[in-house]
Amino acid sequence: MSTTTTTVATTPFDGQKPGTSGLRKRVVVFQKEHYTENFIQAIFTAMPAPGAQGATIVVGGDGRYYMRDVVQKIIRIGAANGIARFIVGQDGILSTPAASALIRKREADGGIILTASHNPGGPNADFGIKYNTRNGGPAPESVTDAIYAATRTITEYHQVTLDAPVDLTTLGCQHFAGFDVEIVDSVTDYVELTKSIFDFDLIRRFRQQSPDFSLLFDALNGVTGPYGRRIFVDELGFPESALDQCTPLEDFGGCHPDPNLTYADKLVARVEREKVALGAASDGDGDRNMVLSHDWFVTPSDSVAVIAHYATECIPYFQRQGLRGLARSMPTSCAIDRVAAAKGLEIFEVPTGWKFFGNLMDAGRLSICGEESFGTGSDHIREKDGIWAIVAWLNILAHVNQTQPAASVRSIMRDFYQTYGRNYFTRYDYEEVDADGAAQMINDLRAKGNDLVGQTINGFTVAAVNDFEYTDPIDHSVSRNQGLRVIFEDSSRIIFRLSGTGSEGATVRIYIERFDPVEFDIDAQVALKPLVDAALEVSQLSKYTGRNEPTVIT
Ligand code: G6P
Ligand code: ZN
Repeated sequence: MSTTTTTVATTPFDGQKPGTSGLRKRVVVFQKEHYTENFIQAIFTAMPAPGAQGATIVVGGDGRYYMRDVVQKIIRIGAANGIARFIVGQDGILSTPAASALIRKREADGGIILTASHNPGGPNADFGIKYNTRNGGPAPESVTDAIYAATRTITEYHQVTLDAPVDLTTLGCQHFAGFDVEIVDSVTDYVELTKSIFDFDLIRRFRQQSPDFSLLFDALNGVTGPYGRRIFVDELGFPESALDQCTPLEDFGGCHPDPNLTYADKLVARVEREKVALGAASDGDGDRNMVLSHDWFVTPSDSVAVIAHYATECIPYFQRQGLRGLARSMPTSCAIDRVAAAKGLEIFEVPTGWKFFGNLMDAGRLSICGEESFGTGSDHIREKDGIWAIVAWLNILAHVNQTQPAASVRSIMRDFYQTYGRNYFTRYDYEEVDADGAAQMINDLRAKGNDLVGQTINGFTVAAVNDFEYTDPIDHSVSRNQGLRVIFEDSSRIIFRLSGTGSEGATVRIYIERFDPVEFDIDAQVALKPLVDAALEVSQLSKYTGRNEPTVIT
């Protein structure tokens, strides 16, 4: 098919700075004339050497409203900038982990993932564009800075004119003058990878031998529905009734596709009512996960620690490779540190954001990592992976049941606490508060810093106050101001941080943690109440934000 290239004059937009996970804005913002085109052009302008000319990129997203329009724009603008091959998920669908896997498998030069992750979708909700590099991981700051710089100086963008939109539904390769578009099945490569990691035979046997064991997977109408169906039903043999909300919808059925106790309330209620043995959910784009049972909620900080504990005992991928090292984001609880210590492994504490794990993985020093923000994963790809974590739990449950029949999520957690003690953890979120008030609160707390040391707040004596700063051990880049920590003499911690992923106002997060070596049966909210009160007192949060209650507690 012949194509012509046109150049369109444009002017920069303010605020096209990619955050932790790309550029996220309301759909109506992306729909402004030239807004999306400018940003896409900036990505191609800034693509790391050797650049866009002749490159292959993977394109796909979580199916949210406006995604398919943007896939077409990426193809037109990318082709005019010299991209030779677009590998696109069928109908534009690729979960974030599937996109990362595809970039790696096909040795593409990068990928563009269209998602606002766990933020709501639809004409009045959010959209997002994120660039991943050739290792399959989110672009490092050097690249996002270059993209931002390009958005600041842009004067024109280039696009090819096509007679009709590219057909995204038919599998196979379509040739155009100067470039190819290859439409791939969204699920198959990812399922193959997952099967190579876990012991599917063991899980199948466990399911057959334990008719009482029930699974309920809720995709929250996000992208993981088809992935979940293929893995849980087609491969592992769970009944169709193990799936809920597994058809991707452009507006996620009006729900907030974030797997936590607040937004996945439908799942939580069903798991309790139906006495489900393993309940699980994933977010809009499939990289987050939540795991629970009718009698236990597994906090993400514990989940990654448990997976690390059992990895070389029963997960074939780690039995083959061994564990190279473990890691968590700074606000994530220190449970995984205890596993690392017991196994004699290196442990890394990185700033919030999955991209910080990538360098460690590429350098062969990190196998399993997680974040309190419902992110869990390993070096099989360079994104966190919701389905991976859920299958990991199935694999562990199947394994433990071989020697302890009727082992459950709860019994596995009890065993874990018995071995390591319990790091009680909770997070309070205050969403969409006034940005100036939130920034002021953090600044004032920082300024108080050393004066607080030695003071006793609600029974806890402050040992240190500092801003988390991270020097990447591989490329030695330094990230500052990654969260304000108030550390107490008994090692309890309170961390204050502003979210990097909101699209309106500011979101304040307070992370609260206390270690107890022997008492592990207290409700986390009860165990942490005195520390929560200390956090509210020391920060004067309600004065700065006007909020008396958090919007979400995890
Ligand atoms: C995204 C990133 C995660 C990160 C999270 C933090 O989901 O992929 O790696 O933990 O954002 O979000 P926040 O809103 O706390 O900045
Ligand atoms: Zn996500």
